[in-house]
Amino acid sequence: MSSQPTILITGCSSGFGLETCRLFLARGWRVVATMRTPRADLLPVSSQLLILPLDVTDGQSIAHCVVQAGPVDALVNNAGIGLRAPLEGLTAQQVRDVFETNVLGTIAMTQAVLPQMRGRRSGVIVNVSSVVAFQPMPLLSVYTASKSAVEGFTRSLALELAPFGIRAHLVQPGRAPGTPFGSSAQQRAGGSLHAAYAGFARSLATATADPAAPVTEAADVAQAVWRVVTDAAAPRAVPAGADAQAMAAALG
Ligand SMILES: NC(=O)c1ccc[n+]([C@@H]2O[C@H](COP(=O)([O-])OP(=O)(O)OC[C@H]3O[C@@H](n4cnc5c(N)ncnc54)[C@H](OP(=O)(O)O)[C@@H]3O)[C@@H](O)[C@H]2O)c1
Repeated sequence: MSSQPTILITGCSSGFGLETCRLFLARGWRVVATMRTPRADLLPVSSQLLILPLDVTDGQSIAHCVVQAGPVDALVNNAGIGLRAPLEGLTAQQVRDVFETNVLGTIAMTQAVLPQMRGRRSGVIVNVSSVVAFQPMPLLSVYTASKSAVEGFTRSLALELAPFGIRAHLVQPGRAPGTPFGSSAQQRAGGSLHAAYAGFARSLATATADPAAPVTEAADVAQAVWRVVTDAAAPRAVPAGADAQAMAAALG
């Protein structure tokens, strides 16, 4: 890792990405915070901070961003979208959109930084997955498929990158009602709630509405990213958040 290490994070306009930027800035890293629509007012003013536009579904945007960013020691593929609805009501385009961002965006960003990391024989790739990849939940089939793809991608890639001194890890957050993710996922599903599933969806909402249940905070995810980036002995996958850690422990 360089004397002044640099981290590039995708999806920094809110939630986990924004909090991870704050943590790494506070701990002296150079941070490249990327957003689809860059905003300078979200993060502290700092000579260590570079805010760049990035849409992970756009190859030109990726190429431009990576050139502007310069050498990066760590890449966090955090940008992601949700989709919460029964499969039957979804359009092919809705399904593709989830895979374009969550899977193909992650793969394209990783490909874009690998040549420089391989050249330096050092680097860390952190892919933000979800507990859904190991704890199945209904109405999330497409989203779960996308995160399961990210997990398989990461576990295979980690093996082929190890000889070059590059690590690849997964951070697996639980449910984080404090970020805009859930409401965006609900909005994205729009009118996709197939009538046949309305009763089931209602009963599910009641069953999961325990306000005392443990959740994941954005700070938990930022800490998990910090751990895998700075600790060469960190596990391949790190659950983030009290709920995620409890689920992982229950599965052994
Ligand atoms: N919140 C949860 O309950 C939860 C649980 C487990 C895992 N996760 C995962 O954690 C990650 C972050 O979630 P979050 O809770 O922090 O949600 P969030 O606040 O909605 O953040 C998602 C970020 O991704 C960005 N994004 C979406 N599409 C993009 C694209 N094409 N190119 C670049 N950026 C894009 C969004 O930017 P815009 O502002 O431009 O839309 C936003 O900055 C996601 O990968 C999500 O799947 C979330």
